[in-house]
Amino acid sequence: MRKKIVAANWKMNLGLNEGSTLVNDILKGLPKLDETRQVVIAPTYVHIGQTAAQLDGKDFISLGAQNCHTEVSGAYTGEVSAPILKSAGVKYVILGHSERREYCKETDAMVASKVNQALANDMKAIFCCGEPLAIRDAGTQNDYVGAQVQAGLFHLSAEQLKNVVIAYEPIWAIGTGRTASSAQAQDMHAHIRSVLSAQYGAAVADNMSILYGGSCKPSNAAELFGCPDVDGGLIGGAALKAEDFLGIIAAM
Ligand code: 13P
Repeated sequence: MRKKIVAANWKMNLGLNEGSTLVNDILKGLPKLDETRQVVIAPTYVHIGQTAAQLDGKDFISLGAQNCHTEVSGAYTGEVSAPILKSAGVKYVILGHSERREYCKETDAMVASKVNQALANDMKAIFCCGEPLAIRDAGTQNDYVGAQVQAGLFHLSAEQLKNVVIAYEPIWAIGTGRTASSAQAQDMHAHIRSVLSAQYGAAVADNMSILYGGSCKPSNAAELFGCPDVDGGLIGGAALKAEDFLGIIAAM
């Protein structure tokens, strides 16, 4: 059975003290979750050591990172590799976020090779996909997102795919307050699952967690997560306040 997951993407926010307080407040309010539910917190690289210590020993809340490099080590000033993240206790790596695809010019090929790095280092990849507004307006979002999934993941074996979580994040919904409707989210999640099913078979596709991201908040999380193919969320802004993040976890 596939897991329900709520993951926090802090993006480039919070100092060390603020991050520490936020994690403590989340831990205080977090109910005990069974093995079918998982919370992930992906702070900045600077927070990783501190957050690892705070989450140590808690199975149902895991440490994430927001990126990793395509190479294992070497002269790449300012970068962090998958083996380094693994050594710090990271369990999940967010890859292919639209902000990195846009601002850091990450290509499908780079994202695919980062996915390989995460998996080779026993971490799970949270693979992000999602269309810009012009594509949604043209009505070609299914082809666009299907192509992203194919380019980023189809080189993997069915066995490797067990360590991948997909996050559908329509770019027009990220940080805009304009959430996809539950019908729009369900349609796309079902489409992504059908694309996976065509390549890997229904059993593999049914086991994959597909998260929704984009202006998800406590007030809309229950409706989104209630869709049959929406298995949780990747949360930006609302993950920066303990009360809001806990509200979203409660919806899961
Ligand atoms: P918001 O929740 O702030 O819209 O961000 C979503 C996101 O990009 C998570 O990765």
